[in-house]
Formats: sequence, structure tokens, C-alpha cells
Amino acid sequence: MENINIDKQRHVSNEIEMPLQNGFSNDFDESSVKKYSFLKGSIPRLRDGDPDVDRLISANKPVVITDSKLVQSAKDWNLEYLEKNMGNGKNFVFQSDTRKFMYHDEKRVTQWPGFRRPTRRYEMKFSNFVEMLQMGRERLYLQQTLNDTVGPNMVRDFVKFRWEWCTRYQRLCRWGDLTSNLLLVGMEGNITPGHFDEQENFFAQILGYKQCILFPPDQFECLYPFPVSHPCDRQSQVDFDNPDFTRFPKFQHVKAIEAIVGPGDVLYIPMYWWHNIESLRSSTQSNTFSHEVPPSVTVSVNFWYKAAAIPDRIERPLKANHKVAVMRNIEKMLTEVVGDPEEIGNMLKTITEGRYDHQQQISYDTYHQS
Ligand code: SIN
Ligand code: FE
Repeated sequence: MENINIDKQRHVSNEIEMPLQNGFSNDFDESSVKKYSFLKGSIPRLRDGDPDVDRLISANKPVVITDSKLVQSAKDWNLEYLEKNMGNGKNFVFQSDTRKFMYHDEKRVTQWPGFRRPTRRYEMKFSNFVEMLQMGRERLYLQQTLNDTVGPNMVRDFVKFRWEWCTRYQRLCRWGDLTSNLLLVGMEGNITPGHFDEQENFFAQILGYKQCILFPPDQFECLYPFPVSHPCDRQSQVDFDNPDFTRFPKFQHVKAIEAIVGPGDVLYIPMYWWHNIESLRSSTQSNTFSHEVPPSVTVSVNFWYKAAAIPDRIERPLKANHKVAVMRNIEKMLTEVVGDPEEIGNMLKTITEGRYDHQQQISYDTYHQS
């Protein structure tokens, strides 16, 4: 794995002592930050305008960009403001019995007999979501694509996002279209477990803090994704808090880098980079749920862009992200032809075992020399 930045600088080190100039608030409880042994360094944290930001994004490397003002117009998006201004449209709200909210594709559930949904998905008005939060009985995570049902104040804020800032990167890196902006409103302690996306993402933090743990695409074999046809495609099968090393031995060698993002920060999550994201505890927002005090939540907005087109000339050796793309295509093709996932596993083993591994290659060469 490429070592991006070993110095253990966290969000606090250069910002917490100073009041922020950008109108965002700034606080989180250090003890809620997880300290995994696989964390090997920090994601670079750079001011907007630093030439290294362009260099890193063009090279598909993660970076936290400060002071970009990308979502400055959304600085007031707390629970109260969102309740008043989200409009009457329905929002997707996930409920989980644990702190983890693993994504699953509802369309594939029936194809996997015995599959148990990790979360339940409801559709509700924002005001109902707030009521449920205030009742405090359930762990909830609102994840809603911003659309034309939002109220006029939010439309105004949305239009004032610094669109020219992202468009510049879209052009520079030849990304495709912006596909969606996902609004995430989560309770502190919520975790989106390790997974990768097939789009480029500017992850803009608005309220509260999140610990973002990222693994490069070359860590693929240590992270054991579900089969491509599984409802949890693109998600790691490993429970990071209680890893089963018998089933997933290579997870012992996995290496990650981290960042704590807070209000006003934008994290670039390159396509195929694995990420595990946890909402940290606030040290000032209320963490008791009652009608008098608004509950403590984190608010983020994702900007998802389609990948850049595949270059005409493929550069060899392939980079890790391209290898992941090729592997996924092979797996998808086999799935279409063969169907049964067990059978796919056997076929892939037959292709590789004793044929493409290094030791066997040596004995093949020896045989042909004699
Ligand atoms: C999260 O913020 O909880 C998840 C965002 C993502 O996976 O892109
Ligand atoms: Fe993601």
C-alpha cells in the first residue's frame, strides 16, 4: 500500500483551539474515536488552493480539503432547520438493531434464500423522522437524495453550493456527470461499515464529526467483499470490531488511513477506495433524546460523479483500481452464465489452482527445460 502521510495529525491538532471563521461549529468527543491497529496514518488535510489538492485528486488519492466553502450555504442545516425546510416529501430512513448500517440491494434479496436484511428501510416525512429521533427508541439513519421536494430555503442554499468548485475537478479529472447529492442525517455512533462505491465522491461534512477510515483498492483481498450478485455486493464481509480471522485471515494484514472530518471539510473518496464511516459523539450537542433539546446528529452531503471514461490505451501493469474493475467484470460475466455462486467459486479455483500461482509456474518452467 502506498503510504500517503504517516504523521498522526488529526482534525483537532490544527483547528480546535481556534474559533472557525466560516460560521460552522466545532466539537467532538475524543474518546469516541476508534483506535484500530490497522490504522497506519492520516489522510492529508490541505487548504483549498494548495497545489497538492489538485495533484492528489488527479492521482485518485484521498484528501481532506478545508476552506473550500463548497457547502457554506448549508451551514445552518441542523435538525431544526431541516425539519422546517425539507418540505413534505418522503425520505428514506434506515433502522438498525446494531450501530451498523450495512447497505443491501433490496432487488437481490429474494435471489439469496436465507439472507437476513441488516437494516429495515422506511419512507417518512422529515418531521416523522425527528419525532422518532426524539422518542429515542431506535437507531436511525436518514439517507435521502436531494430532489425537487425540498422547500424554497433549501433550494436557495443548494443553488448557492460552490458548484464551480466541483465542476473544476470534474473537468480536470474528466469525470462523468454528477449523478446525485445524498443527504445523510445520522445519530452519533452510527457506522456505515467498510465498502467501496463505483463513483467518485466529494463527501461534504456540514454538522458534527465523522471518523472516516479509508483503505486503498490494493487492499481488496484483505477485505473479502461479498460476491458481486449478493445483496451486499461491494461491502466487506469482515466485522471490523470482531474480525473472524479463520474465515478472513488476510484481514490481519490490512492497512488503512483515516481522517476526522468536521463542519466545512470536504473529503475526496476516490472510486474503489474502501471506506468505513462512523458518526462521532458530540461534546456539546445533546446526546439525550428529549423534547426540550434537539438530539445530536451528524449531517453530510455526498456529491457523486460518474467515473472517467476508460482511456483508449490501457497502461500496464494495471493499477489496483483497474484490477478491481476487471475482476468485477469477470465475476459478473460468470454470474450471468453460470448462475449458482457456489459453482462460480469452484470454477475460479479450477482456473487458478496449480496454474497461475508462482510455485507451479516454476515447476512448469523446470519441466520444459529438462
Ligand atoms: C456515511 O457517511 O455514513 C456513508 C457515506 C458513504 O459511504 O459514502
Ligand atoms: Fe460510500
